Amino acid sequence: MAKHTHEPADELIRVGISLPGELLGAFDDIIARQGYTNRSEAIRDLIRERLVTEEWSKPSAKANVAGTLSIVYDHHQRDLVGKLIDIQHDHEGLIVSTLHVHLDHDNCLEVLVLRGAASRIESLTNALRSQRGVKHATLSMTSTGKGLR
Ligand code: NI
Repeated sequence: MAKHTHEPADELIRVGISLPGELLGAFDDIIARQGYTNRSEAIRDLIRERLVTEEWSKPSAKANVAGTLSIVYDHHQRDLVGKLIDIQHDHEGLIVSTLHVHLDHDNCLEVLVLRGAASRIESLTNALRSQRGVKHATLSMTSTGKGLR
């Protein structure tokens, strides 16, 4: 992530922001429910979330990101297991780890931990999701943490 030179990187900066009372009240309710005891930490997390979204949406999509992909599929679907394995091998270097759970007689849950270019992760996700017999696929987009403080 690009370094911003206009603020000292390691210092905590105090900023004052103006908000409508109703908006702040709604925010405080949410963060209290989520267990935050510190409004500043909740706002920092919100900003980090936005930065991760930006990392993932860069036009070049060259940024190195991390994520987890969960897929649920019916392993009885003809040729599906072989196809899923082929697709994963086609995306060599991207998959850090996988976890397989036999949910019931028909359904498997697979969780893939991914790290690499956002565009490649999205391509892998789409390839797996679009297979017949894959019932659900959800990608959790996170960060390697390098661009965040
Ligand atoms: Ni299974």
